[in-house]
Amino acid sequence: MFSIKKLTIQHYKRTIKILQSYFSDKSDIRYLVEISVDKITQQTSTWKRKNKIKSCTHYILFYNSSIIGIVGHYQKYNEPENLWVSWFFIQPKYRSLGFGKLLINFITCIAKKLKKSQLKLYTNSSNKKANKLYVNLGFTLYHKYKIHPDYEIRFFKKKLSYKKDTKDGTRIRN
Ligand SMILES: CC(C)(COP(=O)(O)OP(=O)(O)OC[C@H]1O[C@@H](n2cnc3c(N)ncnc32)[C@H](O)[C@@H]1OP(=O)(O)O)[C@@H](O)C(=O)NCCC(=O)NCCS
Repeated sequence: MFSIKKLTIQHYKRTIKILQSYFSDKSDIRYLVEISVDKITQQTSTWKRKNKIKSCTHYILFYNSSIIGIVGHYQKYNEPENLWVSWFFIQPKYRSLGFGKLLINFITCIAKKLKKSQLKLYTNSSNKKANKLYVNLGFTLYHKYKIHPDYEIRFFKKKLSYKKDTKDGTRIRN
C-alpha cells in the first residue's frame, strides 16, 4: 500500500543516505533534513541562519514500509509569500509512473493551505526530466545562471491561484 507520511526521526538517517546517494550537495541535504526533524546542531543552526531558512518539512512516499519517494518544502524569512520545494526524489524503479507529479501536486496543495502566493524551486538544465515535469505542472522559468559551460541552474515559480470570494463571503480555493 502507498502512503505519504511526514518525515520523522525514525527515517531521517535513511532519507539523508538516499538523497546523498543521488545529489552532490551532501551537507545541504543533511542540514535541511535535520531541520525538518528538529535535529539542530551548532552547524545546522549556522547554516539555517545563513540561508535564511525559517522552517522545513519533508514527506516520505512509502510503498508498505519501503521509501520510494521524498519531497519537502521550506520557508525563508525574507520571502514570506513563497514556499520553496526542498529535496525531491523518486527511487529509480518507481520513476515515470506519475509519483513525481503526485508529490509536486502534494506540495502545491500544502502551499495553498499555507496561503502562499508562489511555489518556487530550482533545478539543473541537464535534468531534462525534472525540467519537463515542472513546465508540465505550470511552473515558469524566472531566473537562470551558468555554473558550468554545459549547464545552468534554473529557477522556476508557479503562481498559486485562489478563486475569488463567493456571494456569501466564503473563499473558494483552486
Ligand atoms: C525528477 C523525478 C522526481 C520525476 O519523478 P517521476 O516519478 O519519474 O515523474 P513522473 O512519472 O511523475 O513524470 C512526470 C513528468 O515527468 C516527465 N517525464 C517522466 N518520465 C520521463 C521520461 N522518461 N523522459 C522525459 N520526461 C519524463 C513528463 O513530463 C511526465 O509527465 P507526463 O507523464 O504527463 O508526460 C525523478 O526522475 C527523480 O527522482 N529523478 C532524480 C532526482 C531528481 O532529479 N530530482 C529533481 C531535482 S530538482
